[in-house]
Amino acid sequence: TLTDVRILVTGGAGFIGSNFVHHLVRHTDASVTVLDKLTYAASREALAGLPEDRVQLVVGDIVDATLVEPLVNQHDAVVHYAAESHNDNSLNDPSPFIQTNLIGTFTLLEAVRKAGVRFHHVSTDEVYGDLELDDPKRFTEDTPYTPSSPYSASKAGSDHLVRAWVRSFGVQATISNCSNNYGPWQHIEKFIPRQITEVIDGRRPKLYGSGENVRDWIHTEDHSSAVLRILEQGRIGETYLIGADGEKSNLEVVRMILTLMGRDADDFEHVTDRAGHDLRYAIDSGKLRTELGWTPQYGDFEAGLAQTVAWYQQNEAWWRPKKGATEAAYAAKGQ
Ligand code: NAD
Ligand code: DAU
Repeated sequence: TLTDVRILVTGGAGFIGSNFVHHLVRHTDASVTVLDKLTYAASREALAGLPEDRVQLVVGDIVDATLVEPLVNQHDAVVHYAAESHNDNSLNDPSPFIQTNLIGTFTLLEAVRKAGVRFHHVSTDEVYGDLELDDPKRFTEDTPYTPSSPYSASKAGSDHLVRAWVRSFGVQATISNCSNNYGPWQHIEKFIPRQITEVIDGRRPKLYGSGENVRDWIHTEDHSSAVLRILEQGRIGETYLIGADGEKSNLEVVRMILTLMGRDADDFEHVTDRAGHDLRYAIDSGKLRTELGWTPQYGDFEAGLAQTVAWYQQNEAWWRPKKGATEAAYAAKGQ
């Protein structure tokens, strides 16, 4: 395990990054600096209660080289989560996605190149486009890149930058591409927390289009254990896909949420579909499991979902202030 190591976690005040910071504190002796711009998606609350002698927050932008370069110099490794992360937002306004996901990653790569610091790049399965519902194949590290949305294209571009910096400059980097995460602290703009909070508010969950689209769900804690494993044992220059065999249609997930919350499983509505909506994602994480011996701990999706429902029921004070504006933006698009 990592001892006496200083790790810079970009985007560490967001949903998955904050889970990773807690995971590092629990499972290593590393000291952690979070670099986060605190956009609408961040929450300081997600970092509350962590030991002050091990975790500090620097509020700033990853595109700011004058901030990033000296900070990177003071660390042994960078784990890069910071991104604009929501597909629907990227359809409304792609500009911050290009800035943060492309220019931000470029800025970090230049800093780790100059400082000779280890880099782990956190990316998404969406770089591989989508699969047909009946396709027996799943995504692997060899699947060609065919991103569909401004978000996924910006992530795909960032992955290409990392590979080029490894090959051309010898940067010590690894990449992971993970499937859809769920768990506590996920912004209520995203599918699962949006539907849970709609049900809490006595409204009906909203399925884009037919609801037959499939996502491959993984608990955010399993994502964190996989990233730590790759940081510690991954081969430099390699890409690892992270997934927990959690394929479910959106319709199945909505029915599960309604049932868990004591409502009629058919009490949902169909709304305007997402433009360019990817049909199905599915991850083959065989390389990570075989090469690095990683296994997910949250094998039972329904149990993980029940815990997540309970978390949103108990943490209304956190999400309530975001709910009105989030729903108003969706309503304006018929979603
Ligand atoms: P999120 O939107 O919840 O959090 C992103 C964080 O990055 C926020 O705290 C935000 O303030 C910060 N940030 C944004 N722009 C920044 C900038 N310019 N400088 C500094 N900080 C900035 O996102 P998430 O869902 O936690 O995703 C984290 C990472 O994991 C992203 O890179 C995303 O592409 C990747 N990923 C997400 C999923 C998923 O299911 N959510 C799956 C696979 C990979
Ligand atoms: O696959 C990994 C990706 O998963 C990450 O890279 C992204 O950062 C993350 O946001 C997520 O992208 P998706 O677009 O799959 O997630 P989202 O939660 O937006 O939507 C999940 C599915 O649910 C998708 O098929 C769209 C659908 N949906 C979404 C919302 C918000 C609905 O049917 N209704 C909704 O209200």
